[in-house]
Amino acid sequence: MREFHRSSSLLFKVFLKVVLMWGKRRDMTVRDRLPFNAEPPAAALAGGELTALDAFYCRNHGPFPDITREQWRLTVDGIVQKPLTLTYDELTSQFTPHSVVATLACAGNRRAELLKVRPIPGKDPWAHGAISTAEWRGARLADVLGAAGVDVDEGLHVAFSAPDVAQEASPVQSYGSSIPLSKAMSQEVLLAWEMNSEPLPRVHGGPVRVVVPGYIGARSVKWVTGMTVQPAPSANYFQASDYRILPPDADPDTVPPGEGISLSMLALNCDILVPGEDVEIPAGPLTIRGYALAGDGRGIGRVDVSLDDGRTWRQADLEPAASPWAWRWWSLTVQARPGPISLTARAWDDTGVTQPESPASLWNPRGYGNNAWAHVEVVVA
Ligand code: MTE
Repeated sequence: MREFHRSSSLLFKVFLKVVLMWGKRRDMTVRDRLPFNAEPPAAALAGGELTALDAFYCRNHGPFPDITREQWRLTVDGIVQKPLTLTYDELTSQFTPHSVVATLACAGNRRAELLKVRPIPGKDPWAHGAISTAEWRGARLADVLGAAGVDVDEGLHVAFSAPDVAQEASPVQSYGSSIPLSKAMSQEVLLAWEMNSEPLPRVHGGPVRVVVPGYIGARSVKWVTGMTVQPAPSANYFQASDYRILPPDADPDTVPPGEGISLSMLALNCDILVPGEDVEIPAGPLTIRGYALAGDGRGIGRVDVSLDDGRTWRQADLEPAASPWAWRWWSLTVQARPGPISLTARAWDDTGVTQPESPASLWNPRGYGNNAWAHVEVVVA
């Protein structure tokens, strides 16, 4: 027992050191030390529209490359009239900077709820925090592709490459991903060098990363050094094999590349961030607060909250959204009576689509895309 305490306190110290080293809050939950994966407590996200840099979640498949601004280069090639190589100074001085407030959400966010349905070996149990929002500033990807003489063609894709090597990929390879050229040419997609008015931190892809608002976080490639316009999606492991919804009976270790449904646009989602899970709260007025996020530029129409497992619903108050690409905060104050309460929330988008009810109906072997109704259990004293 004493041995257990000693090793868990040693682990705590190692995790704390790593969290502080990367400029993160000490109360981040470290899912992996190397590659570094960490999420903030739910309440830290509930503070406001933008997530503070020290609370922004980190999702990595390999160790971070250390590229200075002077060393950084971006090559643009493939089906382009004028292949380009840009330095950091050229990117930041030759292209007009634009800002976009956008929420980045990992496809594995809320996997912990899927794990209660069935085990998902080898995957981190992300809770509420693999999602965060920043104001990103950088050049429009469309402007850079325009400078390379790219013609808009519906069938093409833009593949991004980065130097960080992922040992978990099969075969081992550096990180990459792609988006359709039609999305790449949209005004909201950036090559960002600033995050919340600070130089883009190394841990979040500095000096320059792609930001693809409205798509799963995996497509926002950090430390981007290459862009290729090509007829097909990227053959990279993280596009062709991972980040796909497989049927429940598939074996993720043996399915060939290209199987399953490739994730791109985020699905409508919402979550309850305050009160936290399994906390004891006093009887009386209780304010329930969370976010709702509609996929790829759609708006939130309504958020409902239930205190009786979905038998009856009340409408939450919605705060204005900072942008079409950002989460929208909602809250509802209820009178809490002593005893256990199960809080449930669900969002509707502005086309009338709502969220599926149960994580069981969504379970998939890699544990992606959980957008079931949000649940939090609390005890009122
Ligand atoms: N880009 C590179 N080069 N390497 C990575 O491991 N992870 C992706 C994406 N871009 C990743 C990457 C995933 S899965 C997510 S969810 C987001 O970055 C997380 O971005 P963040 O760590 O800045 O929050």
